[in-house]
Amino acid sequence: MGRVNTEIIKISKYNPEKRKINKAATVLQNGGTVAFPTETVYGLGANALSSTAVEGIFRAKGRPKDNPLIVHISDISQIDNLVESIPLKSLELMERFWPGPLTIIFNKRENVPNIVTGGLSTVAIRMPNHKIALELIRAAGLPIAAPSANASGKPSPTHVNHVIEDMNGRVNMIIDGGITGIGVESTVLDVSGDIPIILRPGGVTKEDLLEVFTKVEYDLALESNNENMIPKSPGQKYRHYSPNAKMVVFQGEADNVSNAINESAKEYSHKGMKVGIMATEQNRDKYQGNVIVIGDRENPESIAGNLFRTLREFDKMAVDIILAEGIKEDGIGKAIMNRMKKAASDNVIVTGGTQ
Ligand code: TXA
Ligand code: MG
Repeated sequence: MGRVNTEIIKISKYNPEKRKINKAATVLQNGGTVAFPTETVYGLGANALSSTAVEGIFRAKGRPKDNPLIVHISDISQIDNLVESIPLKSLELMERFWPGPLTIIFNKRENVPNIVTGGLSTVAIRMPNHKIALELIRAAGLPIAAPSANASGKPSPTHVNHVIEDMNGRVNMIIDGGITGIGVESTVLDVSGDIPIILRPGGVTKEDLLEVFTKVEYDLALESNNENMIPKSPGQKYRHYSPNAKMVVFQGEADNVSNAINESAKEYSHKGMKVGIMATEQNRDKYQGNVIVIGDRENPESIAGNLFRTLREFDKMAVDIILAEGIKEDGIGKAIMNRMKKAASDNVIVTGGTQ
């Protein structure tokens, strides 16, 4: 694709400057693409009601056309124009978790272009909990389709520099709003059946959802390594969040994990490979070499915040293999491990013991 002139503008996330927000909103109204921060990761936005505008997103990312986008809104009244019906179950969810990292699937209305939904009859909608995002959507007066603002297959951007690395020269505008908060993407939830089903684990945890519903399940395709299961969230089938290096995730009790990683590091080094180790705070002193501390085992939120940045850092160090410590799969740990396993193409070693 031809190079586009990308304007980068810095906007305060505490007190977004109106003049700058309006400038970005005009780009969206004119059918352009604008990368903006949300509370999860940076998104790459365009007018969700215009096929040609949304084409620009797919082109910039190199995204497969069957992978649908999330439509972002700033006000609940906007969904009337996007969805056929509002399931009862979704009302309480919207009230409780919006704005926030929860994406809800609805039956779409005809005016939502097929390119937004990858040809599906459903549309994914969320209201981000971020001042810049909300004020931008409000000023544009449009629903905004926005996938994560990374090149397709790369880790999602949690810092404006990641967006610039992937998108400079490919989009019309990049808003620099500093680092994002949560660090992993929103939870994608299907409430069309009797039991709500998590299609992608994310910022709102199963435990959070169980405060509203008596039962919540994960999409079976997330739980099994069965290659033949087709995930209901099409994005889940792609290799994602991938560093250039090969990656192996080690799960188990902290001591078992560090021992196994050290053994494995020795083997790979003997083969002449450059090894990177993704360590938790608790084990940092047990390793040598190219170690990046990803956060605290007891505080998985810290790991969520650092995960995608760490994957990009290992790429910059040009390691051949990343040996990563896994964590417990509850709370936000479920989303973290989902992203880690994808980055590792399900290359997981269970070392035994409880974590
Ligand atoms: O936190 C987030 O959700 C970020 C920020 C920018 O909002 N966005 C994001 O978008 O992660 P993206 O495009 O990277 O991921 C969207 C996910 C994909 O896995 C896609 O398959 C799924 O949502 N999805 C979108 N529409 C869907 C639908 N109608 N049915 C099932 N899954 C859908
Ligand atoms: Mg993405």
